Amino acid sequence: MYSLEFCNNRLYYLDQTQLPLKENWRECKSLKDGCCAIRELQVRGAPLIGVFAAYALCIGMKNFSLSQKIFLKQFHNAVNYLKSSRPTAVNLFWALERLEKVVIRYSANTVSQIKKAVVQEAKAIHKEDIQLCRRMGEYGVKLVKKGYNILTHCNTGFLATSGEGTALSVIFSAHKKYRDIHVYVDESRPLLQGARLTAWELVKKKVPYTVICDDMAAYLMQQGKVDVIFVGADRIAANGDTANKIGTYNLAVNAFYHKVLFYVVAPFSTFDLGISSGKDIPIEERSHDEVRIVFGKAQITPKNAHVYNPAFDVTPAKLITAIITDKGIIRPPYRKNIRKVIASN
Ligand code: MRU
Repeated sequence: MYSLEFCNNRLYYLDQTQLPLKENWRECKSLKDGCCAIRELQVRGAPLIGVFAAYALCIGMKNFSLSQKIFLKQFHNAVNYLKSSRPTAVNLFWALERLEKVVIRYSANTVSQIKKAVVQEAKAIHKEDIQLCRRMGEYGVKLVKKGYNILTHCNTGFLATSGEGTALSVIFSAHKKYRDIHVYVDESRPLLQGARLTAWELVKKKVPYTVICDDMAAYLMQQGKVDVIFVGADRIAANGDTANKIGTYNLAVNAFYHKVLFYVVAPFSTFDLGISSGKDIPIEERSHDEVRIVFGKAQITPKNAHVYNPAFDVTPAKLITAIITDKGIIRPPYRKNIRKVIASN
Protein backbone atom coordinates (compact mmCIF):
# COMPACT_ATOMS: atom_id res chain seq x y z
CA MET A 1 0.00 0.00 0.00
CA TYR A 2 1.46 3.34 -1.03
CA SER A 3 0.33 6.82 -1.99
CA LEU A 4 2.94 7.98 -4.51
CA GLU A 5 4.84 6.41 -7.36
CA PHE A 6 7.82 7.64 -9.41
CA CYS A 7 7.98 5.61 -12.57
CA ASN A 8 9.78 6.30 -15.90
CA ASN A 9 10.55 9.79 -14.64
CA ARG A 10 6.88 10.54 -14.06
CA LEU A 11 5.32 11.27 -10.65
CA TYR A 12 1.89 9.97 -9.64
CA TYR A 13 0.10 10.47 -6.34
CA LEU A 14 -3.15 9.59 -4.63
CA ASP A 15 -5.23 12.76 -4.11
CA GLN A 16 -5.91 12.61 -0.36
CA THR A 17 -8.48 15.42 -0.40
CA GLN A 18 -10.90 13.02 -2.10
CA LEU A 19 -10.50 10.12 0.32
CA PRO A 20 -12.30 8.10 1.52
CA LEU A 21 -14.97 8.71 -1.13
CA LYS A 22 -12.72 8.43 -4.22
CA GLU A 23 -9.33 6.83 -4.82
CA ASN A 24 -8.17 9.25 -7.47
CA TRP A 25 -4.56 9.06 -8.74
CA ARG A 26 -3.14 12.22 -10.34
CA GLU A 27 0.07 13.06 -12.15
CA CYS A 28 2.38 15.85 -10.99
CA LYS A 29 3.60 17.38 -14.25
CA SER A 30 5.33 20.54 -13.04
CA LEU A 31 6.79 22.37 -10.06
CA LYS A 32 3.52 24.28 -9.80
CA ASP A 33 1.52 21.01 -9.66
CA GLY A 34 3.87 19.79 -6.92
CA CYS A 35 3.66 22.96 -4.85
CA CYS A 36 -0.16 23.10 -5.16
CA ALA A 37 -0.55 19.40 -4.27
CA ILE A 38 1.38 19.99 -1.03
CA ARG A 39 -0.31 23.32 -0.21
CA GLU A 40 -3.80 21.90 -0.80
CA LEU A 41 -3.04 18.71 1.19
CA GLN A 42 -3.58 16.41 -1.78
CA VAL A 43 -0.23 15.07 -0.60
CA ARG A 44 0.35 15.43 3.14
CA GLY A 45 2.05 14.02 6.23
CA ALA A 46 5.56 15.16 7.13
CA PRO A 47 7.69 12.33 5.66
CA LEU A 48 5.59 12.02 2.49
CA ILE A 49 5.80 15.76 1.83
CA GLY A 50 9.61 15.46 1.88
CA VAL A 51 9.70 12.56 -0.58
CA PHE A 52 7.09 14.11 -2.85
CA ALA A 53 8.84 17.51 -2.94
CA ALA A 54 12.11 15.79 -3.88
CA TYR A 55 10.41 14.06 -6.82
CA ALA A 56 8.49 17.23 -7.78
CA LEU A 57 11.86 18.97 -8.05
CA CYS A 58 13.03 16.17 -10.39
CA ILE A 59 9.93 16.73 -12.54
CA GLY A 60 10.46 20.51 -12.65
CA MET A 61 14.18 20.08 -13.36
CA LYS A 62 13.49 18.24 -16.64
CA ASN A 63 12.93 21.61 -18.35
CA PHE A 64 15.87 23.44 -16.77
CA SER A 65 18.72 24.80 -18.90
CA LEU A 66 21.80 22.73 -19.79
CA SER A 67 23.98 25.77 -19.10
CA GLN A 68 25.32 25.21 -15.61
CA LYS A 69 25.04 28.84 -14.53
CA ILE A 70 21.39 29.10 -15.53
CA PHE A 71 20.62 25.59 -14.20
CA LEU A 72 21.96 26.47 -10.74
CA LYS A 73 19.79 29.57 -10.55
CA GLN A 74 16.69 27.68 -11.73
CA PHE A 75 17.39 24.88 -9.25
CA HIS A 76 17.81 27.30 -6.36
CA ASN A 77 14.56 29.12 -7.25
CA ALA A 78 12.68 25.80 -7.55
CA VAL A 79 13.90 24.70 -4.11
CA ASN A 80 12.70 27.97 -2.58
CA TYR A 81 9.38 27.71 -4.40
CA LEU A 82 8.73 24.19 -3.07
CA LYS A 83 9.87 25.22 0.41
CA SER A 84 7.19 27.94 0.38
CA SER A 85 4.40 25.33 0.12
CA ARG A 86 4.09 24.58 3.86
CA PRO A 87 6.16 25.85 6.81
CA THR A 88 5.91 23.36 9.69
CA ALA A 89 6.99 19.86 8.59
CA VAL A 90 10.78 19.98 8.60
CA ASN A 91 11.01 16.88 6.36
CA LEU A 92 10.16 19.12 3.39
CA PHE A 93 13.22 21.33 4.01
CA TRP A 94 15.42 18.37 4.95
CA ALA A 95 14.71 16.51 1.67
CA LEU A 96 15.18 19.57 -0.55
CA GLU A 97 18.40 20.52 1.22
CA ARG A 98 19.69 16.99 0.65
CA LEU A 99 19.17 17.47 -3.09
CA GLU A 100 20.90 20.87 -2.94
CA LYS A 101 23.92 19.18 -1.40
CA VAL A 102 24.04 16.72 -4.31
CA VAL A 103 24.09 19.61 -6.78
CA ILE A 104 27.03 21.13 -4.91
CA ARG A 105 28.83 17.76 -4.77
CA TYR A 106 28.44 17.28 -8.55
CA SER A 107 29.21 20.87 -9.52
CA ALA A 108 32.28 19.80 -11.54
CA ASN A 109 30.05 17.60 -13.74
CA THR A 110 27.76 18.39 -16.68
CA VAL A 111 24.17 19.46 -16.02
CA SER A 112 22.89 16.12 -17.40
CA GLN A 113 25.07 14.28 -14.87
CA ILE A 114 23.89 16.57 -12.06
CA LYS A 115 20.27 15.92 -13.00
CA LYS A 116 20.86 12.16 -12.94
CA ALA A 117 22.48 12.37 -9.50
CA VAL A 118 19.57 14.43 -8.16
CA VAL A 119 17.04 11.83 -9.35
CA GLN A 120 19.15 9.07 -7.75
CA GLU A 121 19.15 10.97 -4.45
CA ALA A 122 15.36 11.50 -4.56
CA LYS A 123 14.94 7.75 -5.11
CA ALA A 124 17.31 7.08 -2.20
CA ILE A 125 15.26 9.36 0.10
CA HIS A 126 12.13 7.48 -0.96
CA LYS A 127 13.65 4.03 -0.35
CA GLU A 128 15.11 5.15 2.96
CA ASP A 129 11.74 6.45 4.17
CA ILE A 130 10.23 2.99 3.67
CA GLN A 131 12.98 1.45 5.84
CA LEU A 132 12.60 4.13 8.54
CA CYS A 133 8.91 3.29 8.88
CA ARG A 134 9.66 -0.40 9.28
CA ARG A 135 12.22 0.31 12.02
CA MET A 136 9.88 2.65 13.95
CA GLY A 137 7.28 -0.12 13.87
CA GLU A 138 9.79 -2.64 15.22
CA TYR A 139 10.88 -0.41 18.11
CA GLY A 140 7.39 0.84 18.94
CA VAL A 141 5.70 -2.56 19.06
CA LYS A 142 7.78 -3.38 22.15
CA LEU A 143 5.70 -0.79 24.02
CA VAL A 144 2.36 -2.40 23.18
CA LYS A 145 0.77 -5.21 25.16
CA LYS A 146 -1.85 -7.76 24.18
CA GLY A 147 -5.39 -6.36 24.13
CA TYR A 148 -4.32 -2.71 24.34
CA ASN A 149 -6.70 0.11 23.44
CA ILE A 150 -4.60 2.61 21.52
CA LEU A 151 -5.58 6.19 20.76
CA THR A 152 -4.14 8.09 17.80
CA HIS A 153 -4.54 11.52 16.20
CA CYS A 154 -4.52 12.77 12.60
CA ASN A 155 -3.08 10.40 9.99
CA THR A 156 0.35 8.84 10.21
CA GLY A 157 0.23 5.76 7.99
CA PHE A 158 0.99 4.87 4.38
CA LEU A 159 -0.80 8.05 3.28
CA ALA A 160 1.58 10.18 5.33
CA THR A 161 4.87 8.38 4.57
CA SER A 162 6.34 6.18 1.84
CA GLY A 163 6.10 3.08 4.03
CA GLU A 164 3.76 1.81 6.74
CA GLY A 165 3.85 5.10 8.63
CA THR A 166 5.09 6.50 11.92
CA ALA A 167 2.53 6.03 14.75
CA LEU A 168 0.45 3.83 12.48
CA SER A 169 3.46 1.67 11.66
CA VAL A 170 3.62 0.84 15.39
CA ILE A 171 -0.12 0.12 15.38
CA PHE A 172 0.10 -2.09 12.27
CA SER A 173 3.01 -4.04 13.81
CA ALA A 174 1.05 -4.47 17.05
CA HIS A 175 -1.96 -5.71 15.10
CA LYS A 176 0.23 -8.23 13.27
CA LYS A 177 1.70 -9.43 16.56
CA TYR A 178 -1.39 -9.58 18.79
CA ARG A 179 -4.47 -9.41 16.53
CA ASP A 180 -6.58 -8.20 19.50
CA ILE A 181 -5.60 -4.54 19.77
CA HIS A 182 -8.22 -1.84 19.16
CA VAL A 183 -7.67 1.75 17.99
CA TYR A 184 -9.55 4.92 18.93
CA VAL A 185 -9.19 7.39 16.05
CA ASP A 186 -9.53 11.12 16.80
CA GLU A 187 -11.44 12.60 13.87
CA SER A 188 -8.90 15.49 13.82
CA ARG A 189 -10.85 18.61 13.00
CA PRO A 190 -10.89 20.71 10.93
CA LEU A 191 -9.75 18.59 7.97
CA LEU A 192 -10.65 15.21 9.47
CA GLN A 193 -7.46 13.35 8.62
CA GLY A 194 -8.34 10.84 11.37
CA ALA A 195 -11.94 10.19 10.36
CA ARG A 196 -11.26 10.24 6.62
CA LEU A 197 -7.75 8.84 6.24
CA THR A 198 -6.74 6.87 9.34
CA ALA A 199 -10.09 5.05 9.49
CA TRP A 200 -9.69 4.27 5.75
CA GLU A 201 -6.20 2.86 6.32
CA LEU A 202 -7.38 0.77 9.29
CA VAL A 203 -10.18 -0.67 7.17
CA LYS A 204 -7.63 -1.59 4.47
CA LYS A 205 -5.44 -3.30 7.08
CA LYS A 206 -8.39 -4.89 8.88
CA VAL A 207 -7.48 -3.32 12.25
CA PRO A 208 -10.46 -2.91 14.64
CA TYR A 209 -11.12 0.80 15.30
CA THR A 210 -13.63 3.35 16.59
CA VAL A 211 -13.74 6.96 15.40
CA ILE A 212 -14.29 9.57 18.12
CA CYS A 213 -14.71 13.34 17.99
CA ASP A 214 -11.58 15.07 19.31
CA ASP A 215 -13.41 16.36 22.39
CA MET A 216 -14.32 12.82 23.51
CA ALA A 217 -10.73 11.72 24.18
CA ALA A 218 -10.53 13.04 27.78
CA TYR A 219 -13.78 11.26 28.69
CA LEU A 220 -12.41 7.95 27.37
CA MET A 221 -9.22 8.41 29.39
CA GLN A 222 -11.26 9.20 32.52
CA GLN A 223 -13.11 5.91 32.00
CA GLY A 224 -9.83 4.00 31.73
CA LYS A 225 -10.52 3.07 28.12
CA VAL A 226 -7.16 4.20 26.70
CA ASP A 227 -3.96 2.25 27.50
CA VAL A 228 -1.56 4.21 25.34
CA ILE A 229 -1.44 7.09 22.84
CA PHE A 230 0.77 7.09 19.73
CA VAL A 231 1.02 10.24 17.58
CA GLY A 232 3.33 11.39 14.79
CA ALA A 233 5.30 14.63 14.49
CA ASP A 234 5.97 17.36 11.97
CA ARG A 235 9.01 18.85 13.70
CA ILE A 236 10.84 17.99 16.92
CA ALA A 237 13.09 20.61 18.49
CA ALA A 238 16.44 19.81 20.16
CA ASN A 239 14.75 19.74 23.60
CA GLY A 240 12.02 17.30 22.49
CA ASP A 241 9.17 19.82 22.12
CA THR A 242 7.06 18.42 19.31
CA ALA A 243 4.87 20.07 16.67
CA ASN A 244 2.08 17.87 15.37
CA LYS A 245 -1.49 18.20 14.12
CA ILE A 246 -3.58 20.68 16.10
CA GLY A 247 -5.19 18.85 19.02
CA THR A 248 -2.11 16.79 19.87
CA TYR A 249 -1.29 19.13 22.78
CA ASN A 250 -4.85 18.69 24.18
CA LEU A 251 -4.29 14.94 24.10
CA ALA A 252 -0.91 15.20 25.82
CA VAL A 253 -2.29 17.37 28.64
CA ASN A 254 -5.17 14.96 29.15
CA ALA A 255 -2.86 11.96 29.02
CA PHE A 256 -0.61 13.54 31.66
CA TYR A 257 -3.57 14.21 33.96
CA HIS A 258 -4.96 10.69 33.53
CA LYS A 259 -1.52 9.01 33.66
CA VAL A 260 -1.86 7.53 30.18
CA LEU A 261 1.37 6.76 28.29
CA PHE A 262 1.94 9.33 25.52
CA TYR A 263 4.40 8.42 22.76
CA VAL A 264 5.58 10.43 19.74
CA VAL A 265 6.75 8.36 16.75
CA ALA A 266 9.02 10.05 14.17
CA PRO A 267 12.04 9.33 11.96
CA PHE A 268 15.35 11.18 12.30
CA SER A 269 14.32 13.40 9.35
CA THR A 270 11.62 15.03 11.55
CA PHE A 271 14.14 16.31 14.13
CA ASP A 272 15.33 19.88 13.79
CA LEU A 273 18.37 20.15 16.02
CA GLY A 274 18.94 23.71 14.81
CA ILE A 275 15.89 24.72 16.84
CA SER A 276 16.40 24.84 20.56
CA SER A 277 12.78 24.59 21.69
CA GLY A 278 9.22 24.43 20.40
CA LYS A 279 8.71 28.16 20.57
CA ASP A 280 10.87 28.53 17.46
CA ILE A 281 8.82 26.09 15.36
CA PRO A 282 6.85 27.95 12.66
CA ILE A 283 3.15 27.07 12.93
CA GLU A 284 1.13 27.08 9.74
CA GLU A 285 -2.17 28.99 9.75
CA ARG A 286 -4.63 27.87 7.12
CA SER A 287 -7.71 29.20 5.40
CA HIS A 288 -10.67 30.13 7.61
CA ASP A 289 -13.02 28.27 5.29
CA GLU A 290 -11.46 24.98 6.41
CA VAL A 291 -13.21 25.59 9.75
CA ARG A 292 -16.38 27.13 8.32
CA ILE A 293 -17.04 24.50 5.65
CA VAL A 294 -16.78 20.77 6.39
CA PHE A 295 -15.11 18.63 3.71
CA GLY A 296 -15.39 21.59 1.30
CA LYS A 297 -19.16 21.08 1.14
CA ALA A 298 -21.36 21.87 4.17
CA GLN A 299 -21.15 25.33 5.74
CA ILE A 300 -21.48 24.93 9.53
CA THR A 301 -20.89 28.50 10.75
CA PRO A 302 -22.54 31.79 9.91
CA LYS A 303 -21.14 33.09 6.62
CA ASN A 304 -17.77 34.82 7.21
CA ALA A 305 -17.72 33.75 10.90
CA HIS A 306 -14.53 34.86 12.69
CA VAL A 307 -12.13 31.93 12.73
CA TYR A 308 -8.64 31.04 13.93
CA ASN A 309 -7.10 28.04 12.17
CA PRO A 310 -3.59 26.99 13.28
CA ALA A 311 -2.84 23.63 11.63
CA PHE A 312 -0.39 22.45 14.32
CA ASP A 313 0.37 22.86 18.00
CA VAL A 314 3.46 22.20 20.07
CA THR A 315 3.50 19.60 22.84
CA PRO A 316 6.10 20.40 25.51
CA ALA A 317 8.67 17.63 25.92
CA LYS A 318 7.78 17.17 29.60
CA LEU A 319 4.39 15.71 28.56
CA ILE A 320 5.96 13.08 26.28
CA THR A 321 6.67 9.65 27.79
CA ALA A 322 9.19 8.74 25.05
CA ILE A 323 9.97 9.39 21.38
CA ILE A 324 10.13 6.32 19.15
CA THR A 325 12.52 6.82 16.24
CA ASP A 326 14.09 4.64 13.56
CA LYS A 327 17.26 4.66 15.67
CA GLY A 328 15.65 3.55 18.91
CA ILE A 329 13.45 4.80 21.73
CA ILE A 330 14.49 8.12 23.25
CA ARG A 331 13.51 8.89 26.84
CA PRO A 332 14.09 12.01 28.98
CA PRO A 333 16.27 13.96 29.49
CA TYR A 334 15.52 14.72 25.85
CA ARG A 335 18.07 17.42 25.07
CA LYS A 336 20.92 15.10 26.00
CA ASN A 337 19.44 11.87 24.66
CA ILE A 338 18.18 13.29 21.36
CA ARG A 339 21.65 14.61 20.64
CA LYS A 340 23.15 11.24 21.56
CA VAL A 341 20.79 9.16 19.39
CA ILE A 342 20.01 11.45 16.44
CA ALA A 343 23.18 13.48 16.04
CA SER A 344 25.56 10.56 16.58
CA ASN A 345 24.52 8.73 13.37
O1 MRU B 1 -1.63 18.76 7.88
P1 MRU B 1 -1.16 17.34 7.70
O2 MRU B 1 -2.29 16.41 7.38
O3 MRU B 1 -0.01 17.24 6.74
O4 MRU B 1 -0.62 16.95 9.14
C1 MRU B 1 -0.03 15.70 9.31
C2 MRU B 1 0.29 15.45 10.72
O5 MRU B 1 0.21 16.29 11.58
C3 MRU B 1 0.83 14.11 11.03
O6 MRU B 1 0.47 13.75 12.35
C4 MRU B 1 2.33 14.18 10.95
O7 MRU B 1 2.77 14.57 9.70
C5 MRU B 1 2.84 12.90 11.43
S1 MRU B 1 3.90 11.98 10.44
C6 MRU B 1 3.25 10.82 9.57
